[in-house]
Amino acid sequence: MKRTLAALTLAATAASVLATGIASAADPIVIKFSHVVAENTPKGLAANKFKELVAERMGDKVVVEVYPNSQLFGDDKVLEAMQLGDVQLAAPALSKFSRYTDELALYDLPFLFEDLDAVDRFQQSDKGQAMMESMKKKGLIGLGYLHNGMKQLSSSKPLRVPEDASGLKFRIMSSDVLEAQFEAVGATPLKKPFSEVFTLLQTKAIDGQENTWSNIYSKKFFEVQPYITESNHGLLDYLVVTSAEFWSGLPDDVRTELKAALDESVAYGNEIARSKADEDRQLIIESKRSEVIELTPEERAQWVQMMKPVWKKFEKEIGAELIDAAYAANQD
Ligand code: SIN
Repeated sequence: MKRTLAALTLAATAASVLATGIASAADPIVIKFSHVVAENTPKGLAANKFKELVAERMGDKVVVEVYPNSQLFGDDKVLEAMQLGDVQLAAPALSKFSRYTDELALYDLPFLFEDLDAVDRFQQSDKGQAMMESMKKKGLIGLGYLHNGMKQLSSSKPLRVPEDASGLKFRIMSSDVLEAQFEAVGATPLKKPFSEVFTLLQTKAIDGQENTWSNIYSKKFFEVQPYITESNHGLLDYLVVTSAEFWSGLPDDVRTELKAALDESVAYGNEIARSKADEDRQLIIESKRSEVIELTPEERAQWVQMMKPVWKKFEKEIGAELIDAAYAANQD
């Protein structure tokens, strides 16, 4: 009887192993890369490049599956899913990590960086690099910064000076700094996932939003927003992130090769970010669906004056030293 029971248990275990599809030694490692933007954007193209490089170099060992357009997980769920092991790579906007770290809120401060060169200088500094490790205790590690670019303001009304935004509803990413930034000009900010923005704008449930040229173009926000103010008031960059448990569990040689392919893909995406911003801006202008408003230096100075006090409000949380170092990166 005892022997029969043991045999049954063994057979049941074998069947369950087969049924749950537990990998055999020869099975490739599958990396699910989830993101929320279109494929023809800096992040979409960088993710596809990574998939391509890994297939070329490690096709028998590792397979990358890319899920764009919030197909697998939206902004609000992807990091939880990563902690549970349901997704291995993502690159959320730096504004979407507030539940995991205070430090990355630095990147949301309005008018902090003058351009992407300054952003690069800061991100490559010791302080910028150390920030990628700020969520280790929560089981997440940053593998690299990826650019999208500077944000613009789109709206149902022309926005030239801060008073024009007063009383309007703007969709924002899930960041308290962005909330404070819109409150500073008397507007009402609403935290909503990226996948809902087009419909919210189209149905006029909100009046406007802030985003980069490539997101405004690829998600067709310009078709439902008659005005875009070229404010360059903030940064939309990403952190390519993975689960510490997944990453440390990889064989050393696989981890090294994956990191090299990722670094190459990020560099490729960062190059694209620069050219895509100009190209998509031009396509929006040519579409004539939306008027692009260029601010005079005096008008822009008014936005700076109204929004910059937000820095003080978050100084303690982010750290004055970090803010000073980031601002100093504007000096070449
Ligand atoms: C993204 O670029 O990943 C989305 C940005 C947003 O939520 O506005």
